[in-house]
Amino acid sequence: MKINKTDIIWEVASKYPITVSVFLKYWIEFCCKWNITLEESSKRDNFDLDLVLSELSKLVDFNNSEDIDLSSKTLPEIAEYIKNTFHLPIRELLYPTEVLAKKVAMVHWESHKELYEIRDIVEGLVPVLEMHFDKEWQILHPMLNELQNNFDNNTELKPLHCGSIKNPIRQMESEHDNYGDMLLELKKLTSNYTLPDGACRSYQALYANLQKLEEDLMRHTNLENFILHPRAIEIENKISWNSSCGF
Ligand SMILES: [Fe+2]
Ligand SMILES: [Fe+2]
Repeated sequence: MKINKTDIIWEVASKYPITVSVFLKYWIEFCCKWNITLEESSKRDNFDLDLVLSELSKLVDFNNSEDIDLSSKTLPEIAEYIKNTFHLPIRELLYPTEVLAKKVAMVHWESHKELYEIRDIVEGLVPVLEMHFDKEWQILHPMLNELQNNFDNNTELKPLHCGSIKNPIRQMESEHDNYGDMLLELKKLTSNYTLPDGACRSYQALYANLQKLEEDLMRHTNLENFILHPRAIEIENKISWNSSCGF
């Protein structure tokens, strides 16, 4: 699969979530707020367009079988895919990353003062993410199941306990922005995960974990913001509301 210079960046990221790792590596903005092509972005942000295109194409070819086509999947199927592919592995990564951040800061703080800030951000990020996933599993996903069920059976939509699906979606997307800012701060503090000379094994593991965390979280955000949430709103708009709905 060839990625072209005239392709819109957020569309590439949305269609092939694996490509987010390349956008993050070269600090390329892939949010849908920026409706620009790779070529336009390379002129604006000054990156090597040919290099990026070749890395993107290779990645998409290599991982073609990994990125499943979600266009024909139901809301519960997409939510389940996101949970298994991102939520659960990310949760697994949180505790060891926090332990490493504390350990590396304690041992190397004298020569690398930024490790304190990194530790503090990681300590703040862990509960933020745990709460975010809990809300998605306990509030949003059951609502998505209900929506899909109503849509498939052509039944009237009963009032959902959070009102419109747009309400929890708005909250989740605001949380995506919030942890996105924390990840950006970590990226800056670690100079894009560049290890200092002579970094020990723990230091290496910490940066590797942070980089993996960023990639997986941004892919997760992408799938939810660009695929799952718009699909849910589209389905809700197609279903007639029960007139007793007070929202
Ligand atoms: Fe999620
Ligand atoms: Fe999310």
